[in-house]
Amino acid sequence: ALQAAIFDLDGVLTDTAEFHFIAWQSIAQSLGVDFSLDDNEKLKGVDRHNSLQHILNKGNLTIDEQAFNQLLDRKNKHYLSLIASITPQHLFEGVLACFTSLKARGIKIGLASASKNATLVLNKLGIESLFDFVGDAASVKNSKPAPDIFLSVAAGLGVDAHDCMGIEDAAAGVTAIKSAKMYAVGIGDKNTLCQADQIFTTFNQLNLHLSDCLTAFESS
Ligand code: BG6
Ligand code: MG
Repeated sequence: ALQAAIFDLDGVLTDTAEFHFIAWQSIAQSLGVDFSLDDNEKLKGVDRHNSLQHILNKGNLTIDEQAFNQLLDRKNKHYLSLIASITPQHLFEGVLACFTSLKARGIKIGLASASKNATLVLNKLGIESLFDFVGDAASVKNSKPAPDIFLSVAAGLGVDAHDCMGIEDAAAGVTAIKSAKMYAVGIGDKNTLCQADQIFTTFNQLNLHLSDCLTAFESS
C-alpha cells in the first residue's frame, strides 16, 4: 500500500523551472550556443554540472575546470537573484491541500530535488516543516535520470520503494522514478512524460483527482 509520496521541487511545487531556464539561457547566449525550449526540456531535472556540460557539448566547446566552475557560479548567482522574491504565494495551487490530504491518510511526504538550492526554496515557500524527509542532492552519487535521489529519500523515510509514488515534471525525473521501481506521476506534457504511470496537466489537477490517483496506485 502507498506509504510515501516523494515530490520533485522545481516545476512541481513552484515555477522555479522557469528561473533555471532563464539563467541557463543566459549562460548559453554568452557562449554563443543556441538554447532552445527543446534543450530546456532535456535539462529539466538534470543537475548543474551535467546541464552546463550539455550546453558545452551542443556548442562543441571545451573549457578548463576553472572556467567551468566560474560559469556554474555565475549561473547560480543569477538563479539566486531570480528566486530572491519567492514567497509562499508562489506555491502552485493545490499543493497545500494535497499535502493535507496525504497526511490525513497517513502517507509520508518526501522531497527528491536535484537542486542544491532546494532547502532555500522550501524555506521561501514556507513549507519545509511539512516534509518528513528532504533528500540531499549534494550527497547522492548519480543524479537524475539515475534512481539514487528517490531511493535515498525512500530510505530516509523508512519505506520500501514499491510503496512510494514519485511526482515529477521532467522526463529525466520520471526515468529516475521508474528506475527506482516506484509509481510515477507526471505533471505537465503528456508526450514529454509518456513514461509516467499517470499524467496531470497541473499540480491542481493532481490535487482535484487525488483519490483516483491513489486508487490507480493501489491497483497497479
Ligand atoms: C533541478 C532543476 O531541480 O535542479 C534543474 O530542474 C537544475 O533545472 C537542477 O539545474 C540543479 O539545481 P541547482 O539549484 O543545484 O543548480
Ligand atoms: Mg522539476
